[in-house]
Amino acid sequence: MTLGGKRILLIIAGGIAAYKSLDLIRRLRERGAVVRPIMTKAAQEFVTPLAVGALSASHVYTDLFSREDEQDVGHIRLARECDLVVVAPATADLMAKMAHGLADDLASAVLLASDRPILIAPAMNPKMWTASATQRNLATLQKDGIQFVGPMEGEMAESGERGLGRMAEPLDIVAAVEQQLSGPKPLAGMKAVVTSGPTHEPIDPVRYIANRSSGKQGHAIATALAKLGAEVTLVSGPVTISDPTGVRTVHVERAEEMRDAVLANLPVDIAVMVAAVADWRVASSADQKIKKLPGEAPAPLQLTENPDILKTVGHHAQRPRLVVGFAAETQNIDENGRSKLERKGADLIVANDVSAGTGAMGGDRNSVRLITKTGVEAWPDLSKTEVAERLALWIATHVSGTSR
Ligand code: C5P
Repeated sequence: MTLGGKRILLIIAGGIAAYKSLDLIRRLRERGAVVRPIMTKAAQEFVTPLAVGALSASHVYTDLFSREDEQDVGHIRLARECDLVVVAPATADLMAKMAHGLADDLASAVLLASDRPILIAPAMNPKMWTASATQRNLATLQKDGIQFVGPMEGEMAESGERGLGRMAEPLDIVAAVEQQLSGPKPLAGMKAVVTSGPTHEPIDPVRYIANRSSGKQGHAIATALAKLGAEVTLVSGPVTISDPTGVRTVHVERAEEMRDAVLANLPVDIAVMVAAVADWRVASSADQKIKKLPGEAPAPLQLTENPDILKTVGHHAQRPRLVVGFAAETQNIDENGRSKLERKGADLIVANDVSAGTGAMGGDRNSVRLITKTGVEAWPDLSKTEVAERLALWIATHVSGTSR
């Protein structure tokens, strides 16, 4: 619930991209936001107030001169009873009105009256975007402190023309909203590298050795660090979840590739190695599919140890200021965690119990113990997102104090 209780006033202007605003409403609400929509007259030509109202579970405001609406909330209250005003899509026309302070309909009047931060997602034909009038208005709005997300490069829905003008995708708008509404950024100016997911170690071109890691915890940590302002590179093994927004994601398959990608990112301030790296790989994987031959015993697999990425980083000449490892254990959690801390040169080991039934591996929840040189801190059972957010805060308070 990254937007839990946040109130978003969403202004939908008239453009074909208005259909994406329906998805945007869903995405915002999924994250706990309360969405109050305003639609311009033109917007109602593209999507209906009925759909917008149903998805937002709110009254849809459309008319500056509606007696009921004015008595109910009024445009001045509407403009101010929110944490953020989002305009998506923002048309060239609405941007022009904003830049010039026009207020002849509800959307523009509210934008003029609002004392809240405003984030806009422009969407228009590429020629309209590059037109000097729009570019002048853009410069004015930026000077006025209006925040922008997009537009993106791409094909226009109506004309098939390519160029800058597509509205940012709903999830990118959500990320910009989260960015706007998030609190302080204690990790601003710092770099972090995070590993996540399993690794796949090939046996032959079609088979591999793997484990049940989903990447959920590592991805959530990358997101949480980015939210606190860090510049994050996520090195992800093969997972089925999508790349987090606001993070640079590098995709790898094997442990050796993961190590190379991590080392290529040094120096960083923070390293969080969450990936469940396969301990072993097949010594010499076959170039061709190994055949099953009738009557013959299966070929034995000769295994060899994979590089230990955490240990390499923990003892590296360019060791990050803070090195965090994870420990998936099924027994003697604290003891194993402490020896891992020492052996791997980490500042913190986040140990979790992955014995059968805990659901930590692949599931959505995790109960972890934080093991440092000075002691053990047990956290309650939390969602992986909550673990990530708490851990990012822990990292933020400890990264400045560390020097090794
Ligand atoms: O030794 P073990 O695999 O239990 O250690 C777990 C920690 O070490 C995790 O942080 C994991 O990401 C990291 N690790 C690694 N490279 C390996 C094995 C583990 O970075 N080859």
